Amino acid sequence: MKVVMANDHGAVELAARLRKHLEDRGFDVVYLGTESTESVDYPDKAEECVNEFRKGGYEFGVLLCGTGIGISISANKMAGIRCALPQTRYSAEMTKRHNDANFIAFGGRVEYSEKPEEILDAFIDASFEGGRHERRIAKMMALEGR
Ligand code: RB5
Repeated sequence: MKVVMANDHGAVELAARLRKHLEDRGFDVVYLGTESTESVDYPDKAEECVNEFRKGGYEFGVLLCGTGIGISISANKMAGIRCALPQTRYSAEMTKRHNDANFIAFGGRVEYSEKPEEILDAFIDASFEGGRHERRIAKMMALEGR
Protein backbone atom coordinates (compact mmCIF):
# COMPACT_ATOMS: atom_id res chain seq x y z
CA MET A 1 0.00 0.00 0.00
CA LYS A 2 1.60 3.18 -1.25
CA VAL A 3 1.22 6.70 0.15
CA VAL A 4 2.72 9.91 -1.18
CA MET A 5 3.68 12.66 1.19
CA ALA A 6 5.12 16.20 1.06
CA ASN A 7 5.48 19.21 3.33
CA ASP A 8 6.91 22.69 3.49
CA HIS A 9 9.40 24.02 6.05
CA GLY A 10 6.58 24.66 8.55
CA ALA A 11 5.99 20.98 9.24
CA VAL A 12 9.30 19.16 9.02
CA GLU A 13 9.00 17.57 12.46
CA LEU A 14 5.37 16.49 12.18
CA ALA A 15 6.00 15.14 8.68
CA ALA A 16 8.81 12.95 10.04
CA ARG A 17 6.52 11.68 12.80
CA LEU A 18 3.65 10.85 10.47
CA ARG A 19 5.98 9.31 7.92
CA LYS A 20 7.38 6.99 10.59
CA HIS A 21 3.88 6.17 11.76
CA LEU A 22 2.82 5.24 8.22
CA GLU A 23 5.92 3.11 7.75
CA ASP A 24 5.32 1.39 11.10
CA ARG A 25 1.82 0.59 9.84
CA GLY A 26 3.36 -1.07 6.78
CA PHE A 27 2.83 1.64 4.18
CA ASP A 28 5.36 2.22 1.45
CA VAL A 29 5.82 5.99 1.78
CA VAL A 30 7.06 7.97 -1.20
CA TYR A 31 8.32 11.04 0.60
CA LEU A 32 8.97 14.21 -1.43
CA GLY A 33 10.32 16.38 1.44
CA THR A 34 11.26 18.91 2.50
CA GLU A 35 13.44 17.74 5.35
CA SER A 36 14.95 21.21 5.65
CA THR A 37 13.72 24.20 7.62
CA GLU A 38 14.80 26.43 4.73
CA SER A 39 11.77 28.12 3.24
CA VAL A 40 9.93 26.48 0.34
CA ASP A 41 6.57 27.45 -1.15
CA TYR A 42 3.68 25.18 -0.15
CA PRO A 43 1.90 25.42 -3.56
CA ASP A 44 5.02 23.90 -5.15
CA LYS A 45 5.00 20.98 -2.70
CA ALA A 46 1.26 20.45 -3.22
CA GLU A 47 1.69 20.37 -7.00
CA GLU A 48 4.65 17.98 -6.80
CA CYS A 49 2.75 15.64 -4.51
CA VAL A 50 -0.46 15.65 -6.58
CA ASN A 51 1.52 15.03 -9.77
CA GLU A 52 3.13 12.00 -8.13
CA PHE A 53 -0.27 10.77 -6.85
CA ARG A 54 -1.66 11.02 -10.39
CA LYS A 55 0.90 8.50 -11.62
CA GLY A 56 -1.35 5.97 -9.88
CA GLY A 57 -1.02 3.19 -7.36
CA TYR A 58 -1.40 5.42 -4.31
CA GLU A 59 -3.97 4.82 -1.58
CA PHE A 60 -3.94 8.49 -0.59
CA GLY A 61 -1.66 11.50 -0.11
CA VAL A 62 -0.51 13.40 2.97
CA LEU A 63 0.35 17.11 2.85
CA LEU A 64 1.63 19.36 5.60
CA CYS A 65 2.49 23.02 6.04
CA GLY A 66 2.48 25.31 9.07
CA THR A 67 -1.29 25.35 9.39
CA GLY A 68 -2.17 22.74 6.78
CA ILE A 69 -4.40 25.37 5.21
CA GLY A 70 -2.28 26.74 2.36
CA ILE A 71 -1.14 23.33 1.17
CA SER A 72 -4.66 21.83 1.33
CA ILE A 73 -6.18 24.78 -0.56
CA SER A 74 -3.43 24.41 -3.17
CA ALA A 75 -4.04 20.68 -3.62
CA ASN A 76 -7.79 21.24 -3.86
CA LYS A 77 -7.21 23.55 -6.85
CA MET A 78 -5.99 20.54 -8.81
CA ALA A 79 -8.52 18.39 -10.67
CA GLY A 80 -9.66 15.24 -8.91
CA ILE A 81 -8.26 16.15 -5.51
CA ARG A 82 -10.30 16.14 -2.33
CA CYS A 83 -7.89 17.17 0.40
CA ALA A 84 -9.33 17.28 3.91
CA LEU A 85 -7.83 19.16 6.86
CA PRO A 86 -9.36 17.42 9.87
CA GLN A 87 -8.57 18.59 13.38
CA THR A 88 -10.09 15.56 15.13
CA ARG A 89 -10.37 11.77 14.73
CA TYR A 90 -14.10 12.21 14.15
CA SER A 91 -13.60 14.60 11.21
CA ALA A 92 -10.87 12.40 9.77
CA GLU A 93 -13.14 9.36 9.84
CA MET A 94 -16.11 11.21 8.41
CA THR A 95 -14.17 12.81 5.56
CA LYS A 96 -13.28 9.34 4.30
CA ARG A 97 -16.78 7.93 4.91
CA HIS A 98 -18.71 10.81 3.33
CA ASN A 99 -16.31 12.88 1.18
CA ASP A 100 -14.07 10.04 -0.04
CA ALA A 101 -11.12 12.36 0.57
CA ASN A 102 -8.01 11.23 -1.28
CA PHE A 103 -5.63 13.55 0.55
CA ILE A 104 -5.28 14.47 4.20
CA ALA A 105 -3.47 17.58 5.44
CA PHE A 106 -1.94 18.53 8.78
CA GLY A 107 -0.45 21.67 10.29
CA GLY A 108 3.01 21.39 11.80
CA ARG A 109 2.46 24.50 13.92
CA VAL A 110 -1.01 23.54 15.05
CA GLU A 111 -1.63 22.38 18.60
CA TYR A 112 -3.86 19.36 18.11
CA SER A 113 -5.99 18.27 21.05
CA GLU A 114 -5.89 14.72 19.67
CA LYS A 115 -2.70 13.03 18.50
CA PRO A 116 -2.07 13.61 14.78
CA GLU A 117 -1.12 9.92 14.46
CA GLU A 118 -4.58 8.98 15.77
CA ILE A 119 -6.25 11.46 13.44
CA LEU A 120 -4.37 9.85 10.57
CA ASP A 121 -5.34 6.36 11.78
CA ALA A 122 -9.02 7.34 11.87
CA PHE A 123 -8.75 8.43 8.23
CA ILE A 124 -6.91 5.27 7.16
CA ASP A 125 -9.22 2.89 9.00
CA ALA A 126 -12.47 4.37 7.64
CA SER A 127 -14.05 3.41 4.32
CA PHE A 128 -16.11 5.38 1.86
CA GLU A 129 -19.81 4.62 2.31
CA GLY A 130 -20.91 5.27 -1.28
CA GLY A 131 -24.67 5.52 -1.79
CA ARG A 132 -26.02 9.07 -1.46
CA HIS A 133 -22.49 10.36 -0.97
CA GLU A 134 -21.59 9.40 -4.56
CA ARG A 135 -24.13 11.92 -5.84
CA ARG A 136 -22.80 14.68 -3.60
CA ILE A 137 -19.20 14.00 -4.55
CA ALA A 138 -20.14 14.08 -8.24
CA LYS A 139 -21.75 17.49 -7.65
CA MET A 140 -18.73 18.67 -5.67
CA MET A 141 -16.32 17.63 -8.40
CA ALA A 142 -18.52 19.25 -11.05
CA LEU A 143 -17.77 22.57 -9.31
CA GLU A 144 -14.13 22.30 -10.43
CA GLY A 145 -13.21 25.17 -12.74
CA ARG A 146 -16.48 27.08 -12.25
C1 RB5 B 1 4.88 29.24 5.82
O1 RB5 B 1 5.45 30.21 6.64
C2 RB5 B 1 3.40 29.10 6.14
O2 RB5 B 1 2.71 30.20 5.63
C3 RB5 B 1 2.86 27.81 5.58
O3 RB5 B 1 3.56 26.75 6.13
C4 RB5 B 1 1.40 27.54 5.83
O4 RB5 B 1 1.06 27.67 7.15
C5 RB5 B 1 0.46 28.22 4.93
O5 RB5 B 1 -0.76 27.98 4.93
